[in-house]
Amino acid sequence: MSTSDSPLVICLGSVVADHTFKVDEIPQAPAKARARGYELKIGGMAANAAIAVRRLGGRAAYWGRLGDDGNADILIDGLTTEGIELGGMKRIPGGRSAVAAVLVDPLGERVTLGYRGEGLDPDPSWLPLDTLDKAGALLCDPRWPEGAQAALEAAEQRGIPTVLDGERSETRLLLDLVPRVRYAIFSVTGLTNYGSGARAPEALRKAVSEGVTQMAAVTRGEKSTLWILRGEERIRETPIFRVTASDTTGAGDVFHGAFALAMAEGMEMEAAIRFSSAAGALRARDGATAHRAELEAFLQENAAIAE
Ligand SMILES: Nc1ncnc2c1ncn2[C@@H]1O[C@H](COP(=O)(O)OP(=O)(O)OP(=O)(O)O)[C@@H](O)[C@H]1O
Ligand SMILES: [Mg+2]
Repeated sequence: MSTSDSPLVICLGSVVADHTFKVDEIPQAPAKARARGYELKIGGMAANAAIAVRRLGGRAAYWGRLGDDGNADILIDGLTTEGIELGGMKRIPGGRSAVAAVLVDPLGERVTLGYRGEGLDPDPSWLPLDTLDKAGALLCDPRWPEGAQAALEAAEQRGIPTVLDGERSETRLLLDLVPRVRYAIFSVTGLTNYGSGARAPEALRKAVSEGVTQMAAVTRGEKSTLWILRGEERIRETPIFRVTASDTTGAGDVFHGAFALAMAEGMEMEAAIRFSSAAGALRARDGATAHRAELEAFLQENAAIAE
């Protein structure tokens, strides 16, 4: 449970209504297939990260844009139920929220069709930047660059730790955002986009050579996490926690939420990466985001592996 002393982590970027269909087989066109199950889940990097922050014992705010459609009602409901503060969330009149159709087969193989929404005015001037006075960390994803730029600048002025989810996006967006954050944590494709195809060590070195970036990392799913500190040549490596995965969707989002919370709590870097990897592993194992007690127990049980 979080208390009023728990640090506040602000997560800015995407929220998506994931319309998730369970199918026996992913259909090939032309086809008319029947789904065996359906669920509407909250997706989107920043929203998933905010949920992770809450469940891991922090206070969380989601900052971003929704349309004025039915999907927005459902997403607001879900985020509110999770206890997420929504003072930095705006419903844009006439806008349409981001949605995705997700098809999942019995082996967990999936096809995602994402729609990023429409009419979601990018102007960030309404963001409640003063809330950063009380925040312990700010996490941004690249789906609302104008919002991220405004919030990152305000966070830097206040000396608050900042984290980027360097997920797949246009190279120019990552080139702009990476130097603005203290901690840039990429996915494999995001790092390739940022480095214009350069190999991981080279791209990570570039990330810590610019702007305010103190640490850059790449998460690699079932492979170890690679990271580098500013001023060092050496690439460090932190192992993952082995689990039998049931659904790896959102493991990266949860990793980022956990990492931002760890920075807000003042955790050391190596411990923070272990903490975040454990949160990602549990998400991959269970297809759901763990709570703090479960994560601490998992870390203890697996202490030997990650040392
Ligand atoms: N199968 C797995 N087994 C153990 N840990 C995993 C597994 N998948 C993910 N993780 C943990 O979660 C972290 C983030 O996962 P990953 O690198 O796949 O993120 P991603 O590529 O951003 O994906 P997404 O954003 O779709 O969740 C990994 O570094 C690892 O620590
Ligand atoms: Mg990701």
